[in-house]
Amino acid sequence: MKVYIIGAGPGDPKLLTLRAAELISSCPVVLYTGSLVPREAIAMARADAKVLDSSGMTLDEIIDVIVAARDANQDVARVHTGDPSVFGSTAEQMRRLDHLGIPFEIIPGVSSFTAAAAALGRELTLPELSQTVILTRAEGRTPMPDREKLGDLARHRATLALFLSITLLREVADSLMPEYGSDCPVAVVHKASCPDQKIVLGTLGDIHTRVREVGIKSQSMIIVGRVLTSNDFANSRLYAPDFSHRFRRAKVKAPSTERE
Ligand SMILES: C[S@@+](CC[C@H](N)C(=O)[O-])C[C@H]1O[C@@H](n2cnc3c(N)ncnc32)[C@H](O)[C@@H]1O
Repeated sequence: MKVYIIGAGPGDPKLLTLRAAELISSCPVVLYTGSLVPREAIAMARADAKVLDSSGMTLDEIIDVIVAARDANQDVARVHTGDPSVFGSTAEQMRRLDHLGIPFEIIPGVSSFTAAAAALGRELTLPELSQTVILTRAEGRTPMPDREKLGDLARHRATLALFLSITLLREVADSLMPEYGSDCPVAVVHKASCPDQKIVLGTLGDIHTRVREVGIKSQSMIIVGRVLTSNDFANSRLYAPDFSHRFRRAKVKAPSTERE
């Protein structure tokens, strides 16, 4: 018996991994996290599977379902949105499973921040502009650790992907503006990869008003950074003709430096 902690991707059922689909369609117990898990994924469950939505359950109730499955020697597909490793509340479940000696395995999924980048048609890291993506959230009912306040993270001016923060968009923009500038591009992607996906583009100065006009209040990824609009970035070294690496020898000599 095993618990499979499965990332079901951002919404489009075609973004489920083959492994996720295989496990959801074979496990006798399927416990999924509610509205953002694609219906089509849950519909793959065996006709005789016990299929439960965990969105109204406490951690104890989730563990009770898993313990009952363990007692009946039944595998559990524990299905989460996106990838289980970010903002999934999976660690507290795994800790309980460890204490109970119940084996588990994690099946990665497509995270909503990568689905948002895909919807925007952008790369989040660009040479010399930003080589770092910070995955974070605004401080709401969950307090942020002291060294991770948005104003502190902003000092890096890295690309930011903010989860769980759409209702705090104005506060987010206000915290970031001193470092990024009010003209810094922002994209809000609502339900990335879903048929009712919406994209709102703006700047830190106006994104709050633009999003309010569209009426988006949930299930959104906020991406902040100059990578969203810049086309004025250097090419990477990877495809440079004078650059050798393990899979390709340089076709031309690198320009000589003054010291040579
Ligand atoms: C509980 S977290 C789960 C994140 C998930 N583990 C992941 O990797 O995407 C839920 C938050 O993820 C973001 N999110 C999840 N699915 C999304 C989607 N399809 N489009 C945009 N944002 C999404 C939103 O910020 C939402 O508030």
